[in-house]
Amino acid sequence: MKVLVVGSGGREHALCHGIAKSPRLTRLICAPGNPGIAALAETAPVAADDVQGLVALARKERVDLVVVGPEAPLALGLADALRAEGIACFGPNRAAAEIEASKAFAKGLMRRAGIPTATFGTFEDIDSALAFAAEFGGRVAVKADGLAAGKGVIVCGSLEETRRALETMLVEKAFGEAGRRVVVEERLEGQEASVIALVDGKDVRLLAPAQDHKRLLDGDRGPNTGGMGAYSPAPVVDDAVLERVQREILLPAVAQLAAEGREFRGALYAGLMITADGPKVIEFNCRMGDPETQPIVARMKDDLLDLVEAAAHGRMGPGEIAFDERAAMTVVLAAEGYPGQVRKGDRIEGIAQAESDPEVIVFHAGTARRGEDLVTAGGRVLGVTALGATLAEARDRAYRACAKIRFEGMHYRRDIGHHVLGQEQR
Ligand code: AMP
Ligand code: GLY
Repeated sequence: MKVLVVGSGGREHALCHGIAKSPRLTRLICAPGNPGIAALAETAPVAADDVQGLVALARKERVDLVVVGPEAPLALGLADALRAEGIACFGPNRAAAEIEASKAFAKGLMRRAGIPTATFGTFEDIDSALAFAAEFGGRVAVKADGLAAGKGVIVCGSLEETRRALETMLVEKAFGEAGRRVVVEERLEGQEASVIALVDGKDVRLLAPAQDHKRLLDGDRGPNTGGMGAYSPAPVVDDAVLERVQREILLPAVAQLAAEGREFRGALYAGLMITADGPKVIEFNCRMGDPETQPIVARMKDDLLDLVEAAAHGRMGPGEIAFDERAAMTVVLAAEGYPGQVRKGDRIEGIAQAESDPEVIVFHAGTARRGEDLVTAGGRVLGVTALGATLAEARDRAYRACAKIRFEGMHYRRDIGHHVLGQEQR
């Protein structure tokens, strides 16, 4: 089978890594890819949001399946355009991708399907938003309605903080058009976890639960990022919680989308708060998580290509996916300035040494070639991923590998896994 993977981050490197293991793969192309992916696949210089360019590439190369990594092309209708050409696509049509692209749509869908989530309101002016926040004593989350690369959320502890957050979005337009309309919601308390399902329009198959670390700094301080590290399994999501996530959240979401004429084929990601009352949805994404995909794929035993192909064709069916009993952890090595303006073009050294441990994989996220050199080219540069018999062992291995890698301005969290392993620093 000929497969085109769309995207250029750690998630797409992990997807290529998983797909490349399939005996059914005959050719793997990735657009635009990155230098790490180039070791596994042919890369094609078409941007991940160039819908026409990607459709033309898929046609020219006569690919059997397109696997879309990021949300942006899905929100632009890449899956619709491919399906219109008769090309199978793992990734939802634009209408189903709204579950991520519009927080207001996602919250409405949850209300219609009875899915547990924080109480919320949608606002375009500060005064009514503040009046709503006052009902929760200012303990709310303020969110830009549109896509803001996972960064358009401000969690507030007081009404004063809420006012400032609203001003940032509605007046200063810090998130541009995405922040013209805001969702204000009750602040949920508990541990966060990510449960991602492969979906064929009707049935779901759960991937192993994972936990991400969204804040930049140790101790979950500093600004929100795309994710600074992740691990799987997530002990907070035990079998009983996972069963509830499937029954109360993922299946109703998929059924509601289908009932509203928005059939979902692809990866449905539930960002959850595991509260005292059970799992509640913080957000849905219409794609796999990044970095979560890295430890998840590192543990996956079943053929990833078989699964995504079946989901793309609407014939996956229900069932379990087999995962390695061992744990996996990914530590993200970030560039100076991340999650703001980042410095680029610094030489990266030590990946081969880090990968001399056979249980370590270094996924590329923001890297580029400059002549013979590998250089930094994005905020999240590498995802250093290790397997271990226990989570502690996976962590120790991942951090030993991180210590072998160097680039100017490199920084990373030293406490990935702290919810499970405690605050001890690496
Ligand atoms: P989101 O982009 O919606 O996933 O939000 C980013 C981060 O903000 C989440 O990972 C949470 O840490 C936090 N957050 C969002 N909504 C809430 C909420 N209702 N209660 C508590 N924390 C939240
Ligand atoms: N790691 C969070 C996300 O992919 O949205």
